[in-house]
Amino acid sequence: MSETTDEQTPSSEQSPSSEQSLSSRVPAGGFPPPTDFAATANVGPEVYERAAADRLGFWAEAAARLDWAEPWTEVLDWSNPPFAKWFVGGKLNVAVNCVDRHVDAGHGEKVAYHWIGEPGDTRTITYAQLKDEVCRTANALTSLGVTAGDRVAIYMPMIPETVFAMLACARIGAVHMVVFGGFSPEALASRISDADAEVVITADGGYRRGAPSALKPNVDEALTKVEGVRSVLVVKRTETDVEWTEGRDVWWHELVASQSTEHEAQAFDAEHPLYIMYTSGTTAKPKGILHTTGGYLTQIAYTHWATFDLKPDTDVFWTAADVGWVTGHSYIVYGPLANRTTSVMYEGTPDTPHQGRWWDIVQEYGVTILYTAPTTIRTFMKWGAEVPAAADLSSLRLLGSVGEPINPEAWLWYHENIGGGRCPIVDTWWQTETGGHMITPLPGATSLKPGSAQRAFPGIGAAVVDEEGNPIEPGATGYLVLTEPWPAMLRTVWGDDERYKDTYWSRYGEGVYFAGDGAKLDEDGDIWLLGRVDDVMNVSGHRISTTEVESALVSHPTVAEAAVVGATDPTTGQGIVAFVILRGDAVDSGEDLVKVLRQHVRKEIGPIASPRQIMVVAELPKTRSGKIMRRLLRDIAENRELGDVSTLTDSSVMDLISAKLPATS
Ligand code: WT7
Repeated sequence: MSETTDEQTPSSEQSPSSEQSLSSRVPAGGFPPPTDFAATANVGPEVYERAAADRLGFWAEAAARLDWAEPWTEVLDWSNPPFAKWFVGGKLNVAVNCVDRHVDAGHGEKVAYHWIGEPGDTRTITYAQLKDEVCRTANALTSLGVTAGDRVAIYMPMIPETVFAMLACARIGAVHMVVFGGFSPEALASRISDADAEVVITADGGYRRGAPSALKPNVDEALTKVEGVRSVLVVKRTETDVEWTEGRDVWWHELVASQSTEHEAQAFDAEHPLYIMYTSGTTAKPKGILHTTGGYLTQIAYTHWATFDLKPDTDVFWTAADVGWVTGHSYIVYGPLANRTTSVMYEGTPDTPHQGRWWDIVQEYGVTILYTAPTTIRTFMKWGAEVPAAADLSSLRLLGSVGEPINPEAWLWYHENIGGGRCPIVDTWWQTETGGHMITPLPGATSLKPGSAQRAFPGIGAAVVDEEGNPIEPGATGYLVLTEPWPAMLRTVWGDDERYKDTYWSRYGEGVYFAGDGAKLDEDGDIWLLGRVDDVMNVSGHRISTTEVESALVSHPTVAEAAVVGATDPTTGQGIVAFVILRGDAVDSGEDLVKVLRQHVRKEIGPIASPRQIMVVAELPKTRSGKIMRRLLRDIAENRELGDVSTLTDSSVMDLISAKLPATS
């Protein structure tokens, strides 16, 4: 293995063969679709042939499920790759498609959201009410001077106003940029600055773990670091005192409540920007992933309908994720609303006030489809099967997983203890960049293999290739690539077309998208995702870059150098382990220093990036070319025998580091 590809080789730790002991619990060939499920499924196996026979025609049919104010003249313009244009010349309004058209068709009384606050307060929002709120919010934003194309930052808890704000932006053609409420003022400031947002929508706070968690003070702090924000619209949620900047800050309940519920929506070009979502890459600077209007809504609405077999009249759908991530954008807001779904939206943490909170919600609202992340499933496993067993979960008919590879053990636990052995599980592989599902079983068509996302969605081109870009043989391991442009694909990295080309489209030649994930093909040609092959960690389904955490650490006055690796963690998938070298004049105060550094990372990035372990070391293992050998650090962090150390400048470094380690981690 060459030095430069040290980080680039996917491991095959999660290969199906290492899970042999589970094979007795999985029927040969996988779990077939239950007969009654298959009989009424929205799509059956024939969908693959239809899409393969006429890929663009297939996506055009999917697009035709939406209301277009003006038809498109061409499905895809790929004349200037990797810059795609989908549904060229078409015009539509996203908010009208998600809200107004359902009200106009007589579904105004249908519930769009059963919202549940963490303290136990609830709100039921019908499509008619949603329309009024979105129109009011749109008028309020217009009164603040927001016009089409302007960027609006949204830094909110999981409350209905967050959805109103997103849809109001879409309605007036403003580009929303939602920042997860767990991010620090520092992270918020850099995103506001990169996107040039002029308006911020926030709340005094939200409820998490049984207590108010403040947001507005973070906005105040962020705005001491960036210029150009003229208005901050503030929702009152926790009733906690906030500081007020006259002339800049406006209360939501004063400005929005007084607006008219009439708002005439204008149709926007299919390629009009819809939103920016920042995600971690291999450098310290997060990338602003840009999604646009027509193709995005087409694929999100269609995948939500097909992957989840969504029945608008009878399903109660719950994506248990935060709106601050792409999962929330696509499958709490845009997909479900475009399909006239009744969704559950829950504000808080799963163990507040007790570990059965989710299952009480499923029982009370009759949730039929639940979509969550493997890390949460493993947490539930730790809490014990008796917790969900205490609730009636018989309303559930389909389960979903997203965010990281799901280990077969967790899959089977989910299947048995949550799904009662009867619910298919869709393991959906996708990314912030892809906008929506790309590789997933279809519940009415696929025999399910626990741990594998299996097969490209109809109309999606995916392959697993070797270092040179050649398709690999069944049984081999390689890199996942996407071989055709897709409707919900990112259009660029905000303000940085070069980075867009370099990061995603340059590794294997024109028109081939490098996803950054390792993958294995089994004998049936099914795809098993193996995790990231770049310097990106996956902690609880969240992407965090090693470099970002490293730069946060070295920005502390005591730290000279830092190396960060993601170590396998039984609950969170990966845990962040940092190795730091102190500056000459810094004092190693042991646990106290570790605490200070951890706090510093929380402040720089946010609590999600806080290292699980920080080890102060005298040296870091480096190759002769000066590259830090993370592979060796990972071996240490995972308590493994050290691999090959022969390329190190000084192999005694590893003994020094090992000597510093606690007996168990
Ligand atoms: C990365 C994307 C998709 C929304 C949430 C995360 C990993 C995601 C799966 C899955 C294996 C998965 C990949 C991917 N990933 N889903 N079903 N099986 N890995 O979005 O933050 O953009 O992260 O999450 O490594 O590249 P994201």
